Amino acid sequence: MVKTQFSSRLGFVLTAAGSAVGLGNIWGFPTQAAQHGGGAFLLLYLLLVFALAYPALVAEMAIGRRGHQEPIADLGSLAGKVGKLTGWLGLLAVSAILSFYLIIAGWLLGYMSDALLRLVGVSWPWLTTFSLGRNLILGLLFGLITWWVVQRGLQEGIEKWSKRLMPALLVVLIALACYVLTLPGGSEGLSAYLTPDPQKLLAPNLWLAATGQAFFSLSIGVCVMMVYASYLDKDASLPRLGLQVTLIDSGIAFLAGLLVIPTLYVAKAQGLAILDAHGQLISSDTLVFDLFPRLFATMGSAGLVLSFGFFLLLAVAALTSTLSMLEVPTASLVARTGSSRRVASAWVLGLVLIAMALICWQFGTLFGLVVKVVTQYAQPLLGLVFCVYVGWLWRRDSLLKALAAEDETFAKSWFWRLWPGYVKLVCPLLILLVMVQSIQ
Ligand code: PFF
Repeated sequence: MVKTQFSSRLGFVLTAAGSAVGLGNIWGFPTQAAQHGGGAFLLLYLLLVFALAYPALVAEMAIGRRGHQEPIADLGSLAGKVGKLTGWLGLLAVSAILSFYLIIAGWLLGYMSDALLRLVGVSWPWLTTFSLGRNLILGLLFGLITWWVVQRGLQEGIEKWSKRLMPALLVVLIALACYVLTLPGGSEGLSAYLTPDPQKLLAPNLWLAATGQAFFSLSIGVCVMMVYASYLDKDASLPRLGLQVTLIDSGIAFLAGLLVIPTLYVAKAQGLAILDAHGQLISSDTLVFDLFPRLFATMGSAGLVLSFGFFLLLAVAALTSTLSMLEVPTASLVARTGSSRRVASAWVLGLVLIAMALICWQFGTLFGLVVKVVTQYAQPLLGLVFCVYVGWLWRRDSLLKALAAEDETFAKSWFWRLWPGYVKLVCPLLILLVMVQSIQ
């Protein structure tokens, strides 16, 4: 069977960036930046992204393109039985992420439709009120949209929709940020975001939070980038494509900061409380699903348009990410059982929806737990294992070829001088350090 491939390198970049750009960029990054000293967090985050997450991303991509199959086989061919087990764990982790991500994505659909209905004078509070029924139904709906695109295939489904949605996302993001910056309080927010407060960099959990954020944001450690890279031709330069994906991902996170932090200060200028009883910035979920809707409600129909645009932006970002998450187990199932994409993706979605229903049912205990276990532990740990496989099991000369076959000057580049040592020693050690610190 001929291996599926992206129709172009741009297709790969936009699809992989689509996976990377998600709630982590538009919600997670700005709220963390706001909490941890604005510009200082931005600088630290960029440092960690390029020094730690980007090398790990290239390692994961290299495994995928080398194996050219699905993650379990790709990792098995590199590291035997243990490798296969890592592949299964990656599949499990990505399915777990999908199961909680769908719940939030469903809420986004709810808030988006609410704004749209209010624009035509209809009010349906069910859409924006926390309930088991709403969480299940809207999560299911988002899951079905994701399935519909994935079952159409790589080029006709995931790649085509990522290519359409990513530019749209950028346009909506820039338009919203420009508008918010003109409102009272907007420029105060801008300077709060861009002025670094280096004192805050010393906060104990900051580095951990920023590392977790960087790994989550680049979708590292759960085989997404491995599967996408397995759809690349042998000549594509992985360091270059990986860099483009990383630049888009951090660029969008930066722009999202220009929207979310000024909006926060607009809310403050309107007299809304942005700090909790302990003087801390209110938590990120309260910010998006409580404070912002209350702010938009003070702005009449402009607020409804703003609200619709804001939740649409988040929903689009979430969709290009859920596509990638469903694709990973689907690719494995198709390759291992020979079933069709349509059937395989339906099975995967069915199982994920059962997990999602369980989380919805025991929301108070399970939601935070699953998010924490997967994003703070599983993702960095699997990322570490991928780096160890690439750094220690792969011969240097074949690794060189595997990274940039087309590019003869590559062996003299700064990237090749630094990267092998990085994935062999620096990345695993740093990840370990951050994790040990978090366990303590
Ligand atoms: N990178 C996505 C975000 O920033 O929201 C989240 C994500 C997507 C994580 C895909 C893991 C994944 F496999």
